[in-house]
Amino acid sequence: MMRRAATLLALAGLVAGAQVARADDGATIYKRCAACHLADGAGVPGAFPSLKVDTKALAATPAGRRYLALAVIRGVSGPLTVGGKAYRGTMPAQAGLNDAQVAAVLNHVVKGSSARAFTPREVAGYRAGGSALNGAAVARLRPGSAAK
Ligand code: HEC
Repeated sequence: MMRRAATLLALAGLVAGAQVARADDGATIYKRCAACHLADGAGVPGAFPSLKVDTKALAATPAGRRYLALAVIRGVSGPLTVGGKAYRGTMPAQAGLNDAQVAAVLNHVVKGSSARAFTPREVAGYRAGGSALNGAAVARLRPGSAAK
């Protein structure tokens, strides 16, 4: 009886945890990105790329989705060309974001795109496959960027 109660409690905890993860609000997480990319994502030309120009197109391809997720998870260090402008900066890995939070913030960034939503499971796969990459290697994953 006690055991069953404990199991039920554990299950309830799991369900509650899943709800927290789902409720992870991309807009709230985005606040940490806004320090550099600005509240509306427009960025600062030449310093912090706009997240409004190319991200939706990137989210529409498998390679682009992987790049976007790993830019957040591993950081990215160009050269990059975003919206025709050159960037040679470094974005630090956004440590402390779990898979659900990375998915939520990316869905916030590409809100309004027709691409399918990022899921925690998808992000987990990119994270596992990209664990050896540094920011420069992530930059080279960017489709359509002449970063060499
Ligand atoms: C400390 C500043 C800083 C913070 C905080 C930051 N970024 Fe960045 N981000 C950058 C810089 C700088 C670049 C470009 C790096 C380069 O030149 O290679 C970049 C690039 C990117 C790119 C690549 C864009 C493209 O079109 O290739 C994405 C996507 C991105 N950031 C998303 C995010 C998200 C989402 C967050 C919050 C979870 C975030 N960034 C937080 C500075 C930051």
